[in-house]
Formats: sequence, C-alpha cells, structure tokens
Amino acid sequence: MRLKGKSALITGSARGIGRAFAEAYVREGATVAIADINLEAAEATAKAIGPAAHAVRLDVTDRASIEAAVKAVEAKAGGLDILINNAALFDLAPIVEISRASYDRLFSVNVAGTLFMLQAAARSMIARGKGGRIINMASQAGRRGEALVAVYCATKAAVISLTQSAGLDLIKHRINVNAIAPGVVDGEHWDHVDSLFAKYENRPKGEKKRLVGESVPYGRMGRAEDLTGMAVFLASDEAEYIVAQTYNVDGGQWMS
Ligand SMILES: NC(=O)c1ccc[n+]([C@@H]2O[C@H](COP(=O)([O-])OP(=O)(O)OC[C@H]3O[C@@H](n4cnc5c(N)ncnc54)[C@H](O)[C@@H]3O)[C@@H](O)[C@H]2O)c1
Repeated sequence: MRLKGKSALITGSARGIGRAFAEAYVREGATVAIADINLEAAEATAKAIGPAAHAVRLDVTDRASIEAAVKAVEAKAGGLDILINNAALFDLAPIVEISRASYDRLFSVNVAGTLFMLQAAARSMIARGKGGRIINMASQAGRRGEALVAVYCATKAAVISLTQSAGLDLIKHRINVNAIAPGVVDGEHWDHVDSLFAKYENRPKGEKKRLVGESVPYGRMGRAEDLTGMAVFLASDEAEYIVAQTYNVDGGQWMS
C-alpha cells in the first residue's frame, strides 16, 4: 500500500475521474474526502467506496466552503496530506458567441477554485509541518488552443501555469505541486462535450466522441482508470523529488 495512513481531499470526486482517484487512493490505504458541490452524489459515492471515504459538501468558488471542507478533513483525519484539484466545468462556443457568464463560470471554478483550494490546503499543510502533495487536473486543452474551446483551453493553460508557480513556492515547505494533463476521457463529462460539438459542428450525437477516440494513437479514448496510476505515483514517496511538473497521460494524443 503506497498511501497507507494518508489523508486526501479530492474535489469533484462524486463522479468521473475524481471518483476513480478516490477508489484508487482507498485501495492504496488512504482515507479520502469525496468533496463535491453535489452532496447527494458525493454521499452515494462515499457509501459505495466504503468506510475509508467520507462525503464533504464543497463549492470551490466559495472561500467559506473551501475553509469548511479543509476544517472538516482536519477534524475527521487529523490533517490533510494530499489534495487533488479535480473539479472543473467545460463549455464550448465560437469566439464571436462566447458569453461573459460562461467565461466567469469557467474561470471561477477551474482557475480561482484551483488556486484558492490549493492555498487553503497549503496553509493547513504548512501549519501541520509535515509537507504534502497537491495534484492539479490540467488537460491537453491547456497545451494549445482549440477552435470553439477558447475559454476552457485558457483555464487549463492557467492551471499548468499555477502548478509551476505554486510548485516553486511551496516546495520549501515540502509540499510538492504537480499536475496531470489527460487527453480525452470517456464519461459523463465527454457526453456533455459531445452534445456541444453536435450542436456547433452540426454532427449526429456520438460522432465527435467516436472520431476523437479513433484519433488517439493508443486506439481508444481514455478511461478514468488510465489516470489513477499517475495520481497514486505523484502522491507517493517515490515522487518526492518531482516539483512543478505537468504530466501527459493521454494515449499519445499530444504527440500525434
Ligand atoms: N473527461 C475528460 O476528457 C478530461 C480531459 C482532460 C481533463 N479533464 C479534467 O479532469 C477533471 C475531471 O474531469 P471529469 O471528466 O471527471 O469531470 P466531470 O464533469 O465528470 O466531474 C466533475 C465533478 O466536479 C463537480 N463540481 C463541479 N463544480 C464544482 C464546484 N464548484 N465545486 C466542487 N465540485 C464541483 C461536479 O459535481 C462533478 O462531480 C477536470 O478537471 C477536467 O477538466 C477531463
């Protein structure tokens, strides 16, 4: 067990990739806070995972909610060792149609949510004096812009940049900040992405998903489980000397 006795908080882990991370962390001996804006779904996920998981209501756009979630984890587990900043929103529109509301919503969750969650976790870890690990969820979308995906791409580029700055600032406290950049990962998130592409590219539902899956050098879309190895590794003792990096876990998509 590579995370035995560790306490983790994973934002947006009621479903999707965050849920797979929570399951993997529990298998490796950690206790995990399933921290999500959808408390009902977080409770169902925690129940399905078992007693090492517990649900916490969290809205990453609300500083008071962030503070309360960190306090809840400190009270339950005696401190916080690992944060995964996983919660994020997606939207898509041609440049000439992007709304201010969509921009504000995505930057508020994906960027401000990541930064202030990271800040609260770092304060807790520094006060405890035992270091820690912070893993941010970036994306291939943060490596380059995409027509129709300007705002989401910009938020994920910001996550890569925040990972670099926070990684450099916090390593003196023995807090390692790194990020994972997935390619395309099947799940409810991509069902939503597919329906937006269907609308803006005038395609039948499911076509975009099939095409992106075929374009991945590995030969299929990613699955949440494809990312868990990197998430466990970055939180483990083996990753002690890794600082401010963003790792592609994408079936070769970025190279193609
Ligand atoms: N699925 C992909 O193809 C893909 C690709 C690259 C990167 N990513 C990134 O991986 C991460 C997880 O993606 P996913 O596909 O599992 O997403 P998802 O949409 O399935 O899950 C996101 C979770 O975040 C929660 N959430 C939303 N707003 C929140 C808020 N304000 N506070 C707290 N929780 C909130 C939702 O309730 C949901 O449970 C995201 O950061 C995403 O950008 C996903």
